[in-house]
Amino acid sequence: MRKKAKNKKNSYSLWLSGGGILVIFGLLLIFWIQSGNARVKEQTLAEGQTSYQNFCAGCHEASGLQLATKPPNLHGLFRRKKLPSGAPVTDQAVRDVILNGRGIMPPFKGTLSNKDVEALIQYLHTR
Ligand code: HEC
Repeated sequence: MRKKAKNKKNSYSLWLSGGGILVIFGLLLIFWIQSGNARVKEQTLAEGQTSYQNFCAGCHEASGLQLATKPPNLHGLFRRKKLPSGAPVTDQAVRDVILNGRGIMPPFKGTLSNKDVEALIQYLHTR
């Protein structure tokens, strides 16, 4: 009888600690997923920055270019209401400019993949 009661208590505390372990695993899982998301985001921004340096900075960061139209400054682009052309600043409008070009700005449709363009837009959001 006494032995049985003791067993019952043991299984109860075992169940409790089992719950504790589940909670810890749950928290670890959430933490793991979040740090994974942060890593993916960091990676995307780094890729976007590389594309910007390789394909955009040559015009948009240069001073004294002898171009008929001066490339607009893209710093804080997404904090503005309008693009220099007057179009509202949205991902879609910026994507269109990148893919199709504008005036003397060349199209990047064949040069940048969709993934590159999305990373570039993410990066432009942070500038
Ligand atoms: C050969 C030089 C050149 C390169 C390279 C270039 N741009 Fe441009 N960009 C321009 C010029 C010039 C304009 C102004 C076009 C106009 O309004 O006629 C412009 C305009 C823009 C605009 C504003 C469009 C609007 O609607 O007013 C955005 C956004 C832009 N560029 C983004 C980029 C991004 C992102 C890249 C890199 C993938 C890039 N550009 C590469 C020259 C360039």
